[in-house]
Amino acid sequence: MQIHSTVPSIRSAIREARGAGKRIGFVPTMGFLHDGHLSLVDSARAAGCDFIVVSIFVNPAQFGPREDFSRYPRNEAGDKAQLESRGVDALFLPPVEVVYPYEFVSKVIVAGVSEPLEGDRRPGHFDGVATVVLKLFNIVQPDVAVFGRKDAQQCAVVARMVRDLDIPVELVFGETIREADGLAMSSRNSYLSSAERALAPRFHEALVAGATAVRSGGAGVEGIETAMKKAILACPGIEIDYLRLVDPETFAAPKDLDRDLLLVGAVKIGSTRLIDNIHVPRASGRRQHGTE
Ligand code: PAF
Repeated sequence: MQIHSTVPSIRSAIREARGAGKRIGFVPTMGFLHDGHLSLVDSARAAGCDFIVVSIFVNPAQFGPREDFSRYPRNEAGDKAQLESRGVDALFLPPVEVVYPYEFVSKVIVAGVSEPLEGDRRPGHFDGVATVVLKLFNIVQPDVAVFGRKDAQQCAVVARMVRDLDIPVELVFGETIREADGLAMSSRNSYLSSAERALAPRFHEALVAGATAVRSGGAGVEGIETAMKKAILACPGIEIDYLRLVDPETFAAPKDLDRDLLLVGAVKIGSTRLIDNIHVPRASGRRQHGTE
């Protein structure tokens, strides 16, 4: 696996690969890799890519001043070994001054979809994500870029940016990979103590309760959100930040329930904040509801 830490060096490797007729797949990450990230590499390959680039960059611009940037988990040696064994062709591992050179002032703001929920709880977070993703797209110029659906609002923000700015990349969204007990894989799971880890699957169970309520067709938006909240309130030790039913493209409340829907949530267990979601595709035969 090639390792590059500067823009000219990764660009020249990609130019060479493209010259050899390769289709470039790109998986941007912040490292501390787990099976969820590795499945995104597989998704890039399944999308026909035969030169796969992964970036590892813990992006300071997407962390708020009181967030976990300085303690975000890192494991460079372990990450390199995992990527190598998954057949990744090139790792882009830039230092912060390569991504944000002295006097960097630009910012990408994707209005609308980046504002509610995560955008509201983490002001500036999606500006930081959109800015670094556009910058990485400009550096790598991939044919295909893969993002994990666990960060559903991030997927929607990136999709909107690509559409609005005519960025010539095909987006692929990889399914959330879960532990056997349902907990979505996340680098931040490493913050959980063993008692907190034991509670964590209840979060996914609450989203499943919401999905069941959507599919069974007896409730409107409020009833569905209440079903999720009840499942968590029965479980002291988990604090609800939000549990909502939204339109997966806009992250606004759905106009009706006869469409693709997304149950999204954020909870705190101890000092660890987790996010997760369940997509409920439009089903023919699902009863039409008011939105309460
Ligand atoms: O999902 C992530 O790991 C990050 O938000 C991303 C897309 C690599 C941008 O820093």
